[in-house]
Amino acid sequence: MTDAPPPPYAGPQRVFSGMQPTNGLHLGNYLGALQKFVALQGKYECIYCVVDLHAITAGPDPKELAAKTREVAAAYIAAGVDPAHSIIFVQSAVREHSELAWVFNCIARMGWLERMTQFKDKAGKHAERMSVGLFDYPVLQAADILLYKATHVPVGEDQKQHLELSRDIAQKFNNDYEAPGFFPLPEPLIQGPGARIMNLREGTKKMSKSDPSDMTRINLTDDADTIMNKVKKATTDPLPLPETKEGLAGRAEVENLVGIYAAMSERSVDDVLLEFGGKGFGVFKPALAELLAAKLAPIATEMRRLNADPAALDAILSSGADRARAIAAPIMAEVRERVGFWGA
Ligand code: TRP
Repeated sequence: MTDAPPPPYAGPQRVFSGMQPTNGLHLGNYLGALQKFVALQGKYECIYCVVDLHAITAGPDPKELAAKTREVAAAYIAAGVDPAHSIIFVQSAVREHSELAWVFNCIARMGWLERMTQFKDKAGKHAERMSVGLFDYPVLQAADILLYKATHVPVGEDQKQHLELSRDIAQKFNNDYEAPGFFPLPEPLIQGPGARIMNLREGTKKMSKSDPSDMTRINLTDDADTIMNKVKKATTDPLPLPETKEGLAGRAEVENLVGIYAAMSERSVDDVLLEFGGKGFGVFKPALAELLAAKLAPIATEMRRLNADPAALDAILSSGADRARAIAAPIMAEVRERVGFWGA
């Protein structure tokens, strides 16, 4: 017997990504995810999900969950994801996500999950008090992606390990069920200056909705005055901006602000430094604040408009769920058959 490598995946290229329904979307979400979701639409068939099944791993919030789910869906659309083109839907509306996650639970190994740094960070010293769902979170994520045989997944740097796990699960499924090339091995799309947006006060911490101080982040719905105030108070140093990228080394806060400017203006960091190198923060900060305010204002306005009309948003989400199901159902049917379930 020869040990030929399995055939590569030969199906269509497809993008899948998701965000948890949390309120308080901020600039890190926009540059790390939403802006990329929008940019990929011209190149791939794109499926964007609001992952409410993932949200309940952090505890129940039944009064708020549906509202937050609509809010994230509104942010997708307000940022420029076009529901006439891309699929926008809610995870729990397509039940196959849970079904495939169960099959994958029986593929993934305990040891694989025990290595996941995100769980370790979230659980801290209290792993035994966490829900089983939180431990299992990355298996559900693998099911999200592979239910559509997605090949590319735009995510932040922190999701790289979860993507590796998705590839391990896909490969082991293909092996165990003698289905070479059935699932693709999905690749993360992480590049770009928006990959890591940091806290405005401490350049070594990620910008996060859970930081107790609102001054550490720019929210998508902040108005121009709030943005100006936050940017002006952002931590910097007394030196002028450097002329080149190399000069950003060891200046994490400055690097972050320049990175934000570059990402928001869709220019390179070098290009931004060509303009601002040698100038002080008295010049750069107002320019950055104005850029942010100009770019975020239309998004906030559109989010408010969409949130004021939940029926219209629900119509978009229900048609998105139908389209998602139309892709997922035949793939799940084939999984059921390969696994050997009765009636499949
Ligand atoms: N875990 C992702 C995050 O926190 C969210 C997510 C859930 C996701 N399912 C996904 C991202 C599938 C990409 C693909 O950012």
